[in-house]
Amino acid sequence: MPPLLIANWKMNPRTSNRAIALFRSYGAKKQAKATLVVCPPAPFIPALQSMRKKHGILRKIFLGGQDSGPAIEGAFTGEVSPAMLKDAGASYVIIGHSERRAQGQTDELINKKVKSAIASKLNVILCVGETERVQDGAEFNVVKQQVVAALEGVPKAHLKRVSICYEPVWAIGNGNPASPAEAIEVGLFIMRTIAGVLGKHPRTRMRVLYGGSVTSENAHEYLEHEVLSGFLVGGASLSGKSFLGILHAITK
Ligand code: PGA
Repeated sequence: MPPLLIANWKMNPRTSNRAIALFRSYGAKKQAKATLVVCPPAPFIPALQSMRKKHGILRKIFLGGQDSGPAIEGAFTGEVSPAMLKDAGASYVIIGHSERRAQGQTDELINKKVKSAIASKLNVILCVGETERVQDGAEFNVVKQQVVAALEGVPKAHLKRVSICYEPVWAIGNGNPASPAEAIEVGLFIMRTIAGVLGKHPRTRMRVLYGGSVTSENAHEYLEHEVLSGFLVGGASLSGKSFLGILHAITK
């Protein structure tokens, strides 16, 4: 499986012109040996989608939302539905990011969002991770609870659309990542948890990714042992140079 490299622009940049410039700066000269996904703020998706249609070099970069609502349409002020993201050009959506969970999103709501995103034929990047760096084993319980609750009732045949991203909250946006060994250990645990969820469908492949202060310097070590197969990148995705640096580091 080629690595999956996802840019999470969060609430950046400020204007669609800047978003277009940033997207353009992702145009790698060589065909990337990884799947690239850019998750801009939702209002920029249509502009980036039309860039993709115009420029062959950008066509291979998929677009994604940063969250989506728990239903396809209806009375949910402020939400963007997965069907709308799909219609605008997205094929992925991040669900359960810690910055959304911190706004009060519960496991139950995240489960609804996962189901409605899958019903809209989006690929889901489900974020899980503990808040504090305690290293007393509690992180395993948190991660298991979040994975199992988010996938509750999702038809097993659709689980191949879901990737799980381990993002310890304490490692996000501060240059203080989990060590590769820590991330791989939790990654393995997530794989075992997924195997339990899949039960009689063990052949369904679900990816496990890592996110939290990933850079071009540290990225390649996380992919050793073939447990983790990609990244969700925040800060380092806000310049083409640093994002392509990560791409280069993991595909050379
Ligand atoms: P970071 O963010 O790469 O800036 O740590 C990752 C994320 O929040 O997805």
